Amino acid sequence: MSQRTYLMLKPDAVAGGHIGEIVARIERVGLTIERLELGRVTPEQAAENYVEHEGKPFYQGLIDYITSGPVVKMVVSGPCAVAVARKLMGATDPKEAAPGTIRGDFGLVMDANVMHGSDSPASAEREIGIFFPARAGTMGD
Ligand code: RTP
Ligand code: MG
Repeated sequence: MSQRTYLMLKPDAVAGGHIGEIVARIERVGLTIERLELGRVTPEQAAENYVEHEGKPFYQGLIDYITSGPVVKMVVSGPCAVAVARKLMGATDPKEAAPGTIRGDFGLVMDANVMHGSDSPASAEREIGIFFPARAGTMGD
């Protein structure tokens, strides 16, 4: 069954010039890019997206980082899209992420770990709503 996920190339991936290579990996596995936008994350969107981490020691650094520069926001679909994208990304900490994964190949440190991917179908729908809010007067695209 097709499923949607929210993926985001973080500021280090964009600044490093890796947009093309990372998007190519997502397409190569057979997932479909439904929406794709280069832009900034507002402080409000960052707080909403990372609400589960509020109060943790790394929280403020995470918010500052994700709002520090342009990102690429994507809605991606396909069978088991959430799990497939997480597999492509690899472990959260790039030094643990296997070679061949996106974080393993493009990242070095936890604080700038290349990419975000929703951790469940429910998170995906929540996060798509944060980053691609339906606009009044349109069909939603
Ligand atoms: P993400 O949400 O970014 O896709 O990453 P994730 O599910 O693999 O990891 P999560 O636990 O949701 O953590 C969100 C982001 O917070 C930063 N982090 N730093 N210093 C730390 O202990 C720590 N833990 C998490 C990472 O940048 C992680 O991607
Ligand atoms: Mg997460």
